[in-house]
Amino acid sequence: MHTRIYKKEDLLKEDVKTDIKETLLSGENVVFPTETVYGIGANALSETGIDNIYRVKGRPSDNPLIMHIASKEDVTTYAHVSMPYIKKIMNAFWPGPLTLVMKRKATVPDKITGGRDTVGIRYPSNVIAQSVISIAGVPICAPSANISGRPSSTLFEHVMEDFKEKVDIIIDGGQSEVGLESTVLDVTKPIPVILRPGIITKAMLETVVPKVNLASHLKEDDIPKAPGMKYKHYAPNGEMTIVEGIEDKVVDFINEQIKTHKENGHKVGVIATRDIADKFKDAFVFDVGDKSSKTDIASNLYIALRRMDAQGIDHIYSTAFHENAYQEAIMNRLYKAANHTIIKV
Ligand code: TXA
Ligand code: MG
Repeated sequence: MHTRIYKKEDLLKEDVKTDIKETLLSGENVVFPTETVYGIGANALSETGIDNIYRVKGRPSDNPLIMHIASKEDVTTYAHVSMPYIKKIMNAFWPGPLTLVMKRKATVPDKITGGRDTVGIRYPSNVIAQSVISIAGVPICAPSANISGRPSSTLFEHVMEDFKEKVDIIIDGGQSEVGLESTVLDVTKPIPVILRPGIITKAMLETVVPKVNLASHLKEDDIPKAPGMKYKHYAPNGEMTIVEGIEDKVVDFINEQIKTHKENGHKVGVIATRDIADKFKDAFVFDVGDKSSKTDIASNLYIALRRMDAQGIDHIYSTAFHENAYQEAIMNRLYKAANHTIIKV
């Protein structure tokens, strides 16, 4: 398959608009940027399009897809806005990196929801994403644009690695602004529940509603899972370990590990913020940015993980990032990438 590549300015051209619309309406896939990560999109009302996503991504079909819309009014076509607080949340955070899980209507194909009675809906703020949805004239279901098990794509290059010649169209939107997937919030209950943390945090949501709960699986995140329970998600190829503790000890510990692995002829990579990046000797160090920046670590994390693979790194060590405003989301992805392998020093 020859993949057609477009840029933002191409979306103003009539022939490109027609191509995007016809591609989606015929059940094919278009990869496009959103403010969080790139998405691999299909017409949400076409079973063929949805099947293609699962096939191309290699994703288990019981994992439900998010429906993307380009206007708040469209929600009621597909879901019951049952709880009185939902409108407040939509008004405060849409368009943006927040997915709302609501009771679905019969207009939503079963294939999107994996047979559930709920559907996840998101109104993205990225203008390219909004254009693609508007051009299509139908809602677009889109999981993150990565082969299942790989880190999500936050650069055009990532998308090309995973989907060149596998989808009809890829739209280049440069680097994703946020860098982590949207917050997924279950709003079917009297108290909303965060199912996946993102940069719309519990504290931010609680400025609009009195209380927000965290799903129980999120509270167990620092309990190491038994070996063998390998939950492959957001995972780089190398064996990854998170090292937590006092900074000097963390640095010393990682440097010792580097030395040992080097002696065995293995390649080592380190993920750390700029202030300590040059303290690691003889390793491939990925600087995820300024420790005091709110956005740097989130926006660079998946780039770091993919770069470790590109460098053929055998052992990856990452420091923890508990002081960041988005630490809930960052550490959630990091723990998954490391398969919950954490060493406290
Ligand atoms: O930022 C994002 O959300 C990106 C961009 C492309 O919009 N999309 C994304 O999609 O991350 P995906 O499919 O990789 O992740 C969607 C998450 C999954 O963990 C899925 O299980 C959950 O949302 N989800 C979707 N519908 C759900 C539902 N009805 N009930 C519970 N969880 C749901
Ligand atoms: Mg994903």
